[in-house]
Amino acid sequence: MPKETILVIQSDPKIRVLCHEYLSSRGYQVITAGDYESAIRAAFDGHVDLYLIDLQLPDVNGLDLLERIKAFQPEAQTIIISGNLTNEHLLRALQLGVKGFLVKPFGTKELLDSTKKILEDHRLLRARIQSHVLNPLFEISESFLSEIDQRHVLRQIVGIAKQETRADLITLLLVDSKSSSLNTALSTGVIPGDLEAEVKKLQQRLAEWVLIHREPFITVEGVDPQGWFQKSMASRQLASSICVPLLRKDRVIGVLQMSKKEGTPSFNQNDLALATVLCRQAAILIDNVQLFDEVKRKAQDLEEAQLDAIKALAEALESKDAYTRDHSDRALQHAVAVAEKMGLSDMQKDRLKYAAVLHDIGKIGVPENILKKPTRLTPEEYEIIKTHPEKGAEIIRHIKSLAQVVPLVLYHQEQYDGKGYPKGLAGDEIPIESRIVAVLDAFDAMTSDRVYRKAPGRQRAVEELKRYAGTQFDPQVVQAFLEVISETSPQTPLPSQIEPSSVSQS
Ligand SMILES: [Fe+2]
Repeated sequence: MPKETILVIQSDPKIRVLCHEYLSSRGYQVITAGDYESAIRAAFDGHVDLYLIDLQLPDVNGLDLLERIKAFQPEAQTIIISGNLTNEHLLRALQLGVKGFLVKPFGTKELLDSTKKILEDHRLLRARIQSHVLNPLFEISESFLSEIDQRHVLRQIVGIAKQETRADLITLLLVDSKSSSLNTALSTGVIPGDLEAEVKKLQQRLAEWVLIHREPFITVEGVDPQGWFQKSMASRQLASSICVPLLRKDRVIGVLQMSKKEGTPSFNQNDLALATVLCRQAAILIDNVQLFDEVKRKAQDLEEAQLDAIKALAEALESKDAYTRDHSDRALQHAVAVAEKMGLSDMQKDRLKYAAVLHDIGKIGVPENILKKPTRLTPEEYEIIKTHPEKGAEIIRHIKSLAQVVPLVLYHQEQYDGKGYPKGLAGDEIPIESRIVAVLDAFDAMTSDRVYRKAPGRQRAVEELKRYAGTQFDPQVVQAFLEVISETSPQTPLPSQIEPSSVSQS
């Protein structure tokens, strides 16, 4: 283990030398300072495990110096050396978390015993904080990008506080970013019914004090810095309390409040140290969760805006061709089921859903007299119809978030054997989502009445899909699709294994 470092800040050179020689001979790394300037420099220069501070330094009060040190090293372990310690000094020292006192004159045994005990306690506390506070919180932050919600994080924080401090009542309050008010987010512990309203009022008052002053409020081991709390607590059957701000980048984002009932051991300085570390980490975690939620909310808003845009497009198409809209809705239902069956990734499923709805959107650009023509199309008219995948791709190209859907719309009329349009792609060159849309599209076309003909019917559609599996359609998609419709519509028999057909496009 590396040597622990002790900084002796002492105006009397004799005591300075004594502390230095004796503690060095016991295996500690000892640095000394005789005034404020040299003390601050030494504290800044390297890590100090323990401070031995003279109360009466030539240019500063030892407690003022400690307060300055605590500003950049809040967990600083300290022993105050003094010839004369008043109650006022004692109270302030406890507020500052001083762990021990040496009254001059003191012997080397006393010096070593206090030093050893404080460093040993601190080592144990650090190990406890690491394994019981930091590690569990680290695990939460690791699982961050999977499903994590704020409530889960708050429960973990309160759970750690409860387990480590044995607090009877714990309340975690969060600041509402819009109204700046402090609201209870999570609360544990039972308050007797007749005291509940009073206890809650006191808790709120305390939390608001911490919110305003941005520093912990403690009544531990009889210390009551503000003087009013102990009296208020006694009438509410509470014995001690710790209330710590959750500070994040100079902002108080919440307050953790813990109380113990009368008749239970009071909180101690270790509990305060633990709560301070817990709140420091909790603030980072909660801030990140809130940020994550905000990003998620914005993404959802964007998603809704996209869907609105798509709806507008689909409605525009509906006004031209009522068949197409129904056709798109049915295609969407079937697409989801086929995607599931074929084990597509979530991203592919999302893209497929958009493609199933939008693949015929390019028909907006096809003249109405062709779309609604009651008789067979002429070859020229058919050529115009054949432009709809490119027109559709062109329309959605302008929606940034649909970039990956563009090729799916563009290639939904391609055929497995390469005889489709617009590019004549074959097999795996055609995106799987487009191959699925092609099957859905053909099935729906054959099971829907059109202005120029009656629907060939479901049985015929199944036969056609089987017949052209391997030529016009991807046989695996046909297989999955037929399974889907036989599961959802019992009148359709389960397909036998599909063999690639040599028959070309109809
Ligand atoms: Fe189409």
